[in-house]
Amino acid sequence: MQLDGEMAERYRDFAAYAEGDSDCFVDWALGVAEDAEIHGWLAELPRLKQQPNLVFAAARLHGAAAPSPYAELRRTLLEHETAIKETIRERATQTNEVGRLATLVPVFAQVAEQSGPLSLVEVGASAGLCLFPDRYDYAWPPLGALTGSGGPTLRADASGDVPLPRSHPEVAWRGGADLNPLDVRDDEAMAWLRTLVWPEQQERRERLEQAVRIAAEDPPEIIRGDLFEALPGLVAEAGRHGTPVVFHSAVIAYLEVGERARFHDLMTGLVADGTCRWVSNEAPHVLPLVRGDLEVPVGRFVLGLDGRAVALTHGHGHAIDWL
Ligand SMILES: C[S@@+](CC[C@H](N)C(=O)[O-])C[C@H]1O[C@@H](n2cnc3c(N)ncnc32)[C@H](O)[C@@H]1O
Repeated sequence: MQLDGEMAERYRDFAAYAEGDSDCFVDWALGVAEDAEIHGWLAELPRLKQQPNLVFAAARLHGAAAPSPYAELRRTLLEHETAIKETIRERATQTNEVGRLATLVPVFAQVAEQSGPLSLVEVGASAGLCLFPDRYDYAWPPLGALTGSGGPTLRADASGDVPLPRSHPEVAWRGGADLNPLDVRDDEAMAWLRTLVWPEQQERRERLEQAVRIAAEDPPEIIRGDLFEALPGLVAEAGRHGTPVVFHSAVIAYLEVGERARFHDLMTGLVADGTCRWVSNEAPHVLPLVRGDLEVPVGRFVLGLDGRAVALTHGHGHAIDWL
């Protein structure tokens, strides 16, 4: 059996991305990168389903203990191949990371200061946990904090001239779209979300539980469907309540390359004609025209406002470096 060079590179890239966040996933990803038999195992799946996060979560759902050495993942993949592949085909990495709000809120607050109460439209919302920026406190060490929401604190290390908000942005309306919206009141769906949290990240698991409780008090309406089809209706509805702000994080990577460019054109058009504001938070290769010629360290996302990069952010929201 032969190593698949492209697969090896993808898993090595993931190991670099997971560095500092999950020793277990770094070890598993590097193990897969060098394992020709597992490349053969993965090759039977559609390309978009070969992603490490999805494969690792499905293996954990079917018994792979984590954290554990690579041998545990390998054994589980081979012993439970059929069941794991069924889960991989049925499910998607819908990781809903509310911690990202610590990096989105400075931009939301800027928009609110300029244009008034926000009407939030999240495309690729998963369970919609990021639709509640007004329900959390924030700490941006060493620059400052925002308190007074009565909710839990989300924290991001901050550098540069981050425009720290003095008050929470007012949210007039919230809604979104997802190919497969997860219902915060559905225990099985929430169990899958928990499995998507990386093994060593107990703090993230606790934050997820809190975020699910907050969203479950008043679940946002999330339309089932492709973001291109859902957007016009959502933006029109949002416009009836406040300034429509279309936002997304870790979503556009799921579109084919040509579709990403189409999305960029759609959004810059909507911004140009004053229909909405646009907040994007994606890995650097995903929206190259937002990234421009910025050098972006591994593991950082590019945070954009109206198509222009304003900050680099940690992929799960642990840091924001204002440009
Ligand atoms: C990794 S999750 C991110 C969830 C959330 N934005 C966050 O930051 O926590 C990506 C989400 O995008 C959704 N998604 C992917 N492609 C989509 C599309 N074409 N239309 C709508 N949603 C999509 C997936 O179903 C998934 O829930």
